[in-house]
Amino acid sequence: MNSNMSTNSLLESLEKNAPRHLEELIQWLRIPSVSSDSTHKDDVIEAATWLADKFRGAGLAVEILPTEGHPMVLAETPPVDGAPVVVVYGHYDVQPVEPLDQWITGPFEPTVRQGNLYARGATDDKGQVLTHVQSVCDALAEGRPLPIQIKFLIEGEEEVGSENLERMLPDLAERMACDCVVISDSGQYSDGQPAITYGLRGIATYELKIDGPSQDLHSGSFGGAVMNPAIALSHVLSSIVDSNGRIQLPGYYDDVVELSDQERKAWQALPIDEAAFAKSIGVDELFGESGFTADERRWARPTFDVNGITAGHQGEGVKTIIPATASAKFSFRLVPNQDPKKVTASLETHLAQHMPPGVRYTLTPDHGAPGMLADTQSRFMAAANHAIEAAFGKKPVLIREGGSIPIVTRFQEVLQCDCLLLGWGLSDDNAHSPNEKFRIADYHRGIRASALLWDELGKLKSAP
Ligand code: BES
Ligand code: MN
Ligand code: MN
Repeated sequence: MNSNMSTNSLLESLEKNAPRHLEELIQWLRIPSVSSDSTHKDDVIEAATWLADKFRGAGLAVEILPTEGHPMVLAETPPVDGAPVVVVYGHYDVQPVEPLDQWITGPFEPTVRQGNLYARGATDDKGQVLTHVQSVCDALAEGRPLPIQIKFLIEGEEEVGSENLERMLPDLAERMACDCVVISDSGQYSDGQPAITYGLRGIATYELKIDGPSQDLHSGSFGGAVMNPAIALSHVLSSIVDSNGRIQLPGYYDDVVELSDQERKAWQALPIDEAAFAKSIGVDELFGESGFTADERRWARPTFDVNGITAGHQGEGVKTIIPATASAKFSFRLVPNQDPKKVTASLETHLAQHMPPGVRYTLTPDHGAPGMLADTQSRFMAAANHAIEAAFGKKPVLIREGGSIPIVTRFQEVLQCDCLLLGWGLSDDNAHSPNEKFRIADYHRGIRASALLWDELGKLKSAP
């Protein structure tokens, strides 16, 4: 068959199906699959079931695989002799929605405004996952055999650290055997500039609880005579990072791989306007470790962030107390080669040295995942490059991103496969924030890029 003709008819059929593609995304987004909130347990199952039904309807072999937490959805197309095998990984769970009053329309009432679809999960990650689901299901439903085998592994616990998948992956390794994992759970570089991501930061998250007096005390009667847990917390948190953004934990930078001159040069050529970037997020100026650009700080430097603080009186008006307890949730972003376990050990040493006297504390580590780098020279990268250029009308740039997908390095180690991070989102998509959105045009471009990617990969031979 003339390959141009078949590409044209493929694009025509995607075009014809576009209204249904959008309608189905809206349906899926209505299901509030918040993985961190146990009151949403049944909703998470419903979202998995919705996806499994979608796969089954198109004729894929499907299984909803239970875990100790939320289930995974596995689905696959028939094997193709001699052609590469691809695993599409993604997640159908979403982040919590508060502060609810800041949403213009309800997080689970998907709404179209100015070419964008607003809902929790629109860009992270249901909308992006569905681009691959649609391209594959359309092909099967329309009797167009795919040139490669595709196995979907869509989980419900990415936003809570993917621990069950990590535990189960060795047992799934044979079933998930593949040449390359494709993940769309990141972004384009900017509006109009698509990207392929070859690196992600890792993460280490913690909760620190500080206990002082056995109950809240009158700050007049007792103030000055006891350590205030909220002050102890402020001191100890600010001791973790200096005013230049350098992290103070012992040995923290020992394993950090410095940026190569080549990488720094390549990134400096990317079209970023730091002032406009600052404005777009509502700050007067950017801040970070001195000596680095914003992209370098976001993508390749380790950082510390406080994610939430709780202590004392939060209600209306004044209440003059010394709170009995104070606590904080915080996280470090790690770069490749840093080990989350080492960070925990170093944090423990630091806390022991810097905790003010007169309080007790408990540190609870939560998620840990290392940073990742993908092979930028792989033949899969070249194929993705072509598919994205054809679908988005512009050559993608190579970038890293600062977010984390905890399971990716485990895929590289356990499945011994290449990895393609193909993000369709935009940096103003409000992932994890109120008014999350996905640009509808990017959803359709993502579906196109996905369909073209399978064709490009079909031109490659499976690994010898
Ligand atoms: N899709 C993101 C990861 C991401 C964000 C990749 C930005 C590239 C750019 C993912 O869903 C996510 O939010 N991961 C969490 C992991 C954590 C909960 C263990 C993260 O990065 O905070
Ligand atoms: Mn995600
Ligand atoms: Mn996320």
